Amino acid sequence: PHETFALLRQVSPVHWTRWKGGDGYWSITRYNDILNVLKDWKRFTSERGANLENWDGDQSIARRSMLEMDPPRHTSLRKIVSMDFSPRAVARYESFVRDITKTIVEQTLKKREFDFVDQFAAQIPMRVFARIMGVPEEDTEKLIAWGDELMGNTDPEVTEVTMYSEESEKYRLYPFRNPAALKVFEYGRWLRRHKWDEPRQDVLTKLAHADVEGRSLMDWEFDNMFLLLITAGHETTRQAIVHGVEALIRHPDQIRRLQNDASLMQTAVEEILRWATPILHFRRTVKEDVELHGKKLRAGDKVVLWFISGNRDEEIFPDPFYFDVGRAPNEHLTFGKVGVHYCLGAYLARLEIRVVFEELLPYLHRFELAGKPVRMRSNFTHGIRFMPVKVVTD
Ligand code: HEM
Repeated sequence: PHETFALLRQVSPVHWTRWKGGDGYWSITRYNDILNVLKDWKRFTSERGANLENWDGDQSIARRSMLEMDPPRHTSLRKIVSMDFSPRAVARYESFVRDITKTIVEQTLKKREFDFVDQFAAQIPMRVFARIMGVPEEDTEKLIAWGDELMGNTDPEVTEVTMYSEESEKYRLYPFRNPAALKVFEYGRWLRRHKWDEPRQDVLTKLAHADVEGRSLMDWEFDNMFLLLITAGHETTRQAIVHGVEALIRHPDQIRRLQNDASLMQTAVEEILRWATPILHFRRTVKEDVELHGKKLRAGDKVVLWFISGNRDEEIFPDPFYFDVGRAPNEHLTFGKVGVHYCLGAYLARLEIRVVFEELLPYLHRFELAGKPVRMRSNFTHGIRFMPVKVVTD
């Protein structure tokens, strides 16, 4: 796909792809064009779906979070949780993020060979997140499994094993055609009731007591906020960690650079994020006719912002296919970068990735791939499903 994107950036930066049946979408592949669309929510709305998998007509309120809203509705919902993910709040999470990470590092390094995706990377983000949310620790395994089911949906091999549920049809839960979303809703509502009885200092308590223009959250608003928070930071952060380790194993010179100069960790985290681009695209819909690079985009047209392409745009990133832990500047698009939907969890994800690589750094030169990583087939998640790693002795 990198070759295709490079070609599109060069010859057709605003490119129409037709689907069978006549409908289609615009692909935006250059960095600066992606930024301009992200900034302009008035002309490029999120209200009609946020990725290629969901389409118009299926945006019932049963499947609408702040991610699929424009201001002012978006603003009032985001306000409820924004303080808990601010740089200042996130700085307070560092010590328990490190504790969780150390435990997982210790457990996995005892094994000589393991699946890095499942046994390492998947274990950290949901545990951290459960702690911030106020979800009981004993339920995290359950949440990891549900999160996997939900995100794995766009991978056909995973979809085959998830069953279509009569119940979720009742919720009209496209595109999550699997029972996990329903389980997450039920579990979330159970937690919400529980939090009313026992208020504590966590995000769930805040959601349970939220005041949106003089009222509390409606059930569907709560459901979708909970589902969004559960899914948004789980697979994404995991994939950044997996891609980061894969890139470092393949570039041992970069491991040595980091081991010799720990002050490079800050830029290394940003390079891992650029390299990984765990979310390949997000989508907008044109609200009023607009012209871009000579192409006429009409109201109702879908516009797909290919972050994976913008992050390899040779006009912005010198030698974009070179993995360079010292790369600076590195204003990647991995979190959206600008606009009202700029990733809520960007600081948290950065913290988790930094702590993971700080804790893994002394061992990384002993890591080897024990087989070929198995990639996810998805146009949304840039994912590795399975990556066997072995730890050799010094
Ligand atoms: C939004 C990527 C981690 C929560 C976004 C967006 C991107 C993104 C690209 C913008 C969506 C748009 O423009 O429509 C990522 C990546 C992550 C990550 C690559 C990890 C490396 C997290 C974490 C959380 C989180 C840890 C946990 C709280 C959210 C939420 C939104 C969002 C709630 C929606 C914000 C809004 O609509 O205002 N994320 N994210 N993300 N992210 Fe993340």
